[in-house]
Amino acid sequence: MKEKIEKLRQDAAEAIKEKVANLTDLNDIRVKYLGKKGELTAILRGMSQLGAEDRPKIGKIVNEARAQLEALITEKNEQLKARELADKLSSERIDVTLPGRQFRVGHLHPLTLTMGRIKNIFLNMGFSIEEGPEIETDYFNFEALNLPKDHPARDMQDSFYITEEILMRTQTSPVQARTMQSREPNSPIRMIAPGRVYRRDDYDATHSPMFTQVEGLVIDKGISFADLKGTLEVALRQIFDEKVGVRFRPSFFPFTEPSTEVDISCVMCHGAGCRVCKGTGWLEILGAGMVHPHVLEMSGYDPAKVSGFAFGLGVERIAMLSYGIDDLRLFYDNDVRFLRQF
Ligand code: DAH
Repeated sequence: MKEKIEKLRQDAAEAIKEKVANLTDLNDIRVKYLGKKGELTAILRGMSQLGAEDRPKIGKIVNEARAQLEALITEKNEQLKARELADKLSSERIDVTLPGRQFRVGHLHPLTLTMGRIKNIFLNMGFSIEEGPEIETDYFNFEALNLPKDHPARDMQDSFYITEEILMRTQTSPVQARTMQSREPNSPIRMIAPGRVYRRDDYDATHSPMFTQVEGLVIDKGISFADLKGTLEVALRQIFDEKVGVRFRPSFFPFTEPSTEVDISCVMCHGAGCRVCKGTGWLEILGAGMVHPHVLEMSGYDPAKVSGFAFGLGVERIAMLSYGIDDLRLFYDNDVRFLRQF
């Protein structure tokens, strides 16, 4: 009996020292010898069959063997855990000497920047900012602006039609009618409406089937052409520079009467004449006019009580002139070598 226990103890001690590679192995050994059905446990259970004299002796030996094996297991367990931790730490080590990752900071697109400047100028003059849909009805895009179905001025604004009555808006002017119709009749309006517009057009250095406009509308009692001139001169001097020349030429738009085209002195040659202004010293910059009485009437305003002026400008053209950009397509190609410069 004694020998059998000694043999078990030795086998187990050796197994713990030599054969254990990880915590699972160690647990297997613990179960094999000390578990409920373990070999040493079996001996303890069989003690009832021993004589009263042998019982305490054998019991003592078994308990000693048991205590020793438990101690060995505890020790091994700690070693294994320490090794696992060390392995984990070394495999997850962070190299603090690696150079940091570069963060590139993004920025606004030149058209957004230009639009922002224009918006600020008008916000400072007390204008509100209005919006209208890019998919527009024939009624708002043309009819409500005094361009009935057979009007020849429609030819200049051929569009992308979705149905006979629905199209991609060709101008931001429909927001004039939308704004009037959303207000109490004859109540004052001072608004701008920035946004994208679409026309059937070429795609080259100066044309694009999609571009950006800012519409403006001012209505109140007693608004005159002097208000139009003053407002636009102030705005253009802030957009370009204090000394820019501004001139008004007679023109035609169906929704204004009288109508005018507004030029600024050439930003490249300051009026001397160059390639950009085609030798004229002037650059055409926007269209404007006094709101046609019929346009007021169609949207519920009474031309006997109020009057107003409207204007429309192209944001790309202003951005091109202020940054010295000679090809419109650069705005839409999204080449970072171009965009990075702003
Ligand atoms: N909507 C015109 C265009 O796209 C621009 C314009 C001209 C707008 C005169 C106006 C205006 O409000 O009064 O060609």
